[in-house]
Amino acid sequence: MQWGYILTKKRMTLKAEAIHVVEEIPAKIFAKRRKYFIEEMLPDSIAFILSNPECIRSNDTDFPYRQSSDVLYLSSFPEPQSVLILSNFDGKPEFKMVVRPKDRQREIWTGHRLGVEGAIEKFACQEAYTVDQFTQVVNNLLSKAKNVYYKFGQNEEFDELFEPAWKKYSSSLHNPETITHEMRMVKEKVELDLMRQAASISAEAHCVAMEVCKAGMMEYEVQAEIERVFMMRGASGPAYGSIVAGGENAICLHYSENSARLQNGDLLLIDAACEYRGYASDITRTFPVNGKFSEEQLEIYNLVLAANKAAIAFAKPGVSLKQVHERASGVLREGLIQLGVLGPEMDSVENEEKVLKHSGKNGNKSTPVILRDVFMHGTSHWLGLDVHDVGTIGTRSTHAKTMPMVPNMAFTVEPGLYFDPDDKRLPKKYRGIGVRIEDDVVTTAKGCEVLTSGAPKEPEEIEELMAIAR
Ligand code: GLY
Ligand code: MN
Ligand code: MN
Repeated sequence: MQWGYILTKKRMTLKAEAIHVVEEIPAKIFAKRRKYFIEEMLPDSIAFILSNPECIRSNDTDFPYRQSSDVLYLSSFPEPQSVLILSNFDGKPEFKMVVRPKDRQREIWTGHRLGVEGAIEKFACQEAYTVDQFTQVVNNLLSKAKNVYYKFGQNEEFDELFEPAWKKYSSSLHNPETITHEMRMVKEKVELDLMRQAASISAEAHCVAMEVCKAGMMEYEVQAEIERVFMMRGASGPAYGSIVAGGENAICLHYSENSARLQNGDLLLIDAACEYRGYASDITRTFPVNGKFSEEQLEIYNLVLAANKAAIAFAKPGVSLKQVHERASGVLREGLIQLGVLGPEMDSVENEEKVLKHSGKNGNKSTPVILRDVFMHGTSHWLGLDVHDVGTIGTRSTHAKTMPMVPNMAFTVEPGLYFDPDDKRLPKKYRGIGVRIEDDVVTTAKGCEVLTSGAPKEPEEIEELMAIAR
């Protein structure tokens, strides 16, 4: 057997048990990151790294709090209303923090606060201030700074206090993410250990989903089984909203209702994975609800699998994510021509563009089918503290997609094919089929390591696992 988890009675009654728990990231790693950050700033700079705001759900009830990934990356400080302050005045590195004050009344309701003392003792800052001192601290520091690193738009509470002081001193403004995001693109060993753990828990959850799935179940029941594994294995929860999409629901790329009944003969697409110690995983598997692929499902599935494997085999240092996408797209394009979904004239992007120009109705359903009609997303995004990690979206994403990779960069490989049930141009037998196969990989010296191999993807392995569970 190829996959990492073998069905046992024990797993069906999953219990929290001693598993290999990856250590917390040691304090000296955060100190090293902050030192590097400070060295990368222009001379006589001050940087403010903001926590995420709390988000009200209703009245006095909040959505679960998640610290901003840059604060996690530079300190692991978990509380809201906090700011990391890094400076290099006169070449001297300094680390200060702004935190919530200790408050017995508030702590009774919402839990322990580290306060100024905790920030200094446990998070190794030289000085700490309470959040009500923020304006005063900012004024003091900005009066000395030649360069200021601050990102507006992330936390309104701090923006309102910061903006008047910044205008008063009119220091230049830089985005701290130009430094933190560059750093976060390449993972350290300790980060990769956490990502392996996240991926391994998620892979186990996908195995459980294959084992329990049967016609008649609700999508949310399968979701519950998956998320139960996340929590039982010590993950903090899903890294993003779990997608459990039976049949045609898989055509919606970010389907989130998870409320339909699973039908015999349909495929089930599950895009779900956990966050472990702040690090995301991201897995999609697609398998038959009744445990056996039909012939036409298998034709599409095997093509997506071939694209997934070809892209993974192609990914290595020196290659860009754009090239990985082109490799996967090339495999899909060729296979779709063979299956009669695309015309033979669609054998390259250039030829496809010529045909479209000629037909003059780009994107209109009366034009011939093009690859984008059935594969409308990218093959990869970066992965790390965020599921769509730094470099995936925003101004630097074009650079990040075309840059040659170096070792220890983590990303997904997730080709898919989606056949709109109402698109009469597509072969009838494929309409309503949606398949995506998504793995998490990390570049090594010469190729890449697949973190998610614990979740089977060969159709025979999937069918075998599902047959044993029945
Ligand atoms: N789970 C979202 C994605 O695959 O990008
Ligand atoms: Mn993904
Ligand atoms: Mn995904």
